[in-house]
Amino acid sequence: MSNIVSPSILSADFGNLANDILMLNDSNADWVHIDVMDGQFVPNISFGMPVIDYIDTLSKKPLDIHLMISKPERYIENFLKYNTKVLTIHLEACRHLHRAIHEIKTKGAMAGVAINPHTDVNHLDEIINDIDIVCLMSVNPGFSGQKFIENSFNKVKKLKKIIQEKKSNCKIQVDGGVNIKNAKKLINNGADVLVAGNFIFKSENPRENIISLKEI
Ligand code: DX5
Ligand code: ZN
Repeated sequence: MSNIVSPSILSADFGNLANDILMLNDSNADWVHIDVMDGQFVPNISFGMPVIDYIDTLSKKPLDIHLMISKPERYIENFLKYNTKVLTIHLEACRHLHRAIHEIKTKGAMAGVAINPHTDVNHLDEIINDIDIVCLMSVNPGFSGQKFIENSFNKVKKLKKIIQEKKSNCKIQVDGGVNIKNAKKLINNGADVLVAGNFIFKSENPRENIISLKEI
């Protein structure tokens, strides 16, 4: 099974958002990664429902929604009304993670848990059999275009081991600073899903860069 590529729309040209979504429709991308930020959980505010309504209408690819907001359980329903393949919430932002995860699953999406660079993967031990995907942040969440944190390679390995030991089907997604230079090692260490913003949208040929990540 080949790896999954999820381009992060945060790096798109918001003055020509339709163009970038149509480009993705016509590409080998699997999902569209949507970064929602509230200015509280992370030091930045991105976009909300009116923009996602629009993306959802135009996109032929399912949405992979990454909520970087405090108390994400308040908005689960709102983000599941789209063609949502994955809904990811942060372990650090949610008090009753188990309940929130099961709400996402019973409403028909893949349930994702994201962890910040400082969070040990062992914190996922008790929940790894309940979730469909872990989003390992390889930058501090809040901005696209940041430098990849090298320790993320070890985290992917450690997490893969936990997943195998627990016989979980959970996928590993890596988000932040992913490019052609680090992608191979990430996949070799156990990553299944690569999120990339700048590497795709700031390039001369976004479709080719998507293919390059898929074919690694
Ligand atoms: C960071 C976001 C990432 C980011 C990825 O807070 O969650 O999805 O947009 O962009 P790049 O690949 O440019 O780091
Ligand atoms: Zn993200």
